Amino acid sequence: MGDATPAADTVFLARQLSKTYGEGEAAVHALRGVDLAVQRGEFIVLLGASGSGKSTLLNILGGLDIPSSGELRFGDHWLSGASEAELTRYRREHVGFVFQFYNLIPSLTVRENVALVTDISAHPMPVDEAIAHVGLAPRADHFPAQLSGGEQQRVAIARAIVKRPDLLLCDEPTGALDYQTGKLVLEVIARINQELGTTVIVITHNAAIAGMADRVIHLSDGCIQRIERNPHKLTPAELSW
Ligand SMILES: Nc1ncnc2c1ncn2[C@@H]1O[C@H](COP(=O)(O)OP(=O)(O)OP(=O)(O)O)[C@@H](O)[C@H]1O
Ligand SMILES: [Mg+2]
Repeated sequence: MGDATPAADTVFLARQLSKTYGEGEAAVHALRGVDLAVQRGEFIVLLGASGSGKSTLLNILGGLDIPSSGELRFGDHWLSGASEAELTRYRREHVGFVFQFYNLIPSLTVRENVALVTDISAHPMPVDEAIAHVGLAPRADHFPAQLSGGEQQRVAIARAIVKRPDLLLCDEPTGALDYQTGKLVLEVIARINQELGTTVIVITHNAAIAGMADRVIHLSDGCIQRIERNPHKLTPAELSW
């Protein structure tokens, strides 16, 4: 089952997206005919077993990978069939990524880690504004090793949003964090979605997080198994697991 009804505020439109890695007997069908429409400002949670294709789908939506077949459009950009240079420009202008591991540069302070990105972006927000969004203003001159895991993840989020991306794509952002710290990070992501209007897609193994989403997409074996809409979104503080 899919959902590919285009509406006025559709940011992504995917039709029959497929991704196959390898060839012949070694071929892995990571995505098999995904139809999806994502609206501007939506908060989407992507759930599914390990190997179901979550990261593959997120990477294709974020222009890190290309589909083997099918169509994918982001606004006026056709991502299916895009060249490497077009994908690079798309990522630079529109996409912020957050991964399970923070990938901060240890020899740079918080402010310097976030500032690195602003050199190559067209309309960045002031670095200190991005740091304030994630609640780390008092730590701006600290180095990553002086921060907790959750704080380091918040720096990674500041780095992702400083260029004012349309999309914030998060692959297991709380995967390495404990319960309370994970909630703090989710609060930051929810606030960015609300205050900046950024479209957010979060991959998680934690079904409880699904309560925060506008829509929850369940992937199974490379297909969308079902999509649920939450009538009442929960705040991260209301989630428990
Ligand atoms: N670069 C690659 N080359 C070959 N196979 C790949 C590659 N990337 C992913 N796969 C395969 O595609 C399938 C989907 O992988 P994907 O990483 O999208 O799963 P996932 O849902 O994110 O899983 P997890 O929850 O473990 O991160 C898996 O069978 C995986 O082994
Ligand atoms: Mg994954």
